[in-house]
Amino acid sequence: MNIIKRKSWALSENEATPEDVFLNRRQFMGGVAGGAVALSGGLGFAGHALAEGDPSAGLYPVERNTAFTLDRDVTAEKVSSQYNNFYEFGFHKNIASAAQALPIRPWSIVVDGLVAKPQTIDIDALLKEMPLEERLYRHRCVEGWSMAVPWSGFQLSELLKKVEPTADAKYVRFETFNNPEVAVGQESQPFYPWPYIEGMTVEEAMNELSFMVTGVYGKPLAKQFGAPLRLALPWKYGFKSIKSIVRISLVDERPVGLWEQLQPSEYGFWANVNPGVPHPRWSQANELLIGTRERRATLMFNGYGEQVADLYKNLGDEKLFM
Ligand code: MTE
Repeated sequence: MNIIKRKSWALSENEATPEDVFLNRRQFMGGVAGGAVALSGGLGFAGHALAEGDPSAGLYPVERNTAFTLDRDVTAEKVSSQYNNFYEFGFHKNIASAAQALPIRPWSIVVDGLVAKPQTIDIDALLKEMPLEERLYRHRCVEGWSMAVPWSGFQLSELLKKVEPTADAKYVRFETFNNPEVAVGQESQPFYPWPYIEGMTVEEAMNELSFMVTGVYGKPLAKQFGAPLRLALPWKYGFKSIKSIVRISLVDERPVGLWEQLQPSEYGFWANVNPGVPHPRWSQANELLIGTRERRATLMFNGYGEQVADLYKNLGDEKLFM
């Protein structure tokens, strides 16, 4: 999912997976040519240290929910916090430094649409109200790498219950901020259909795995991870886990995400991890555990089938990876 052809620092040449997106050239080539973002060097500091001073710092660490376990080590913070996709801040992985430009206070989230009680909620009021817990989740990017992260936050269903979705609500649409004045990727790539949008069904949103993230590694969420509020959907490819959310709307029409708008044949609505269905340009059979040289077989639903497989049993011919 990158318009700049380049190799990741974590991969040797023969292990590299294709990470460049073949965009709709007619629509986007002009902008790509004019707006390439230079690769920045590594950070000279642990990007996460900058989360100190966050007004929610006193809330962390929160108690771990031991129901969510891993089959691998947690990825070192210094690795996961400096290898991020956050296209609002650049089209490469070393965006931790640029992401510090995002002001995360004041921050409010609009929850609206087909709900009985629409609300605009201040992030700190939300943090005080929600039952925060820590969960160890793995996430698998469509690009062929994975990491394991201790997220803190609350179940999305808890937030949705507050606003009382009506019977007509079929989907949940999520929207990221749009502020080219601070986000260098939005400023330099104005031809992208900002803001970043993602969506899921109400049924998926109510599943116990759908998690709203407010912290990581026992601290407030660092900006490069999508502060102050992001989604974590461990059974879906990483692009579905939208960052820095400003609006959550209950709707009756299927939302079309940013990547689906750009390249519908590659990045579709469902995007459930499925090793049996290759991406149109590369295999999804295995993954590189970032920070290591280990490759593992990718599991159906990223190994979370017990919790989510039932959601898809009536989908017939729908392609689950798209
Ligand atoms: N959300 C927004 N707003 N912008 C993005 O570019 N990238 C997605 C997802 N959420 C993205 C986003 C992709 S492609 C992935 S793999 C994950 O965030 C990466 O999350 P991480 O940086 O915490 O590993």
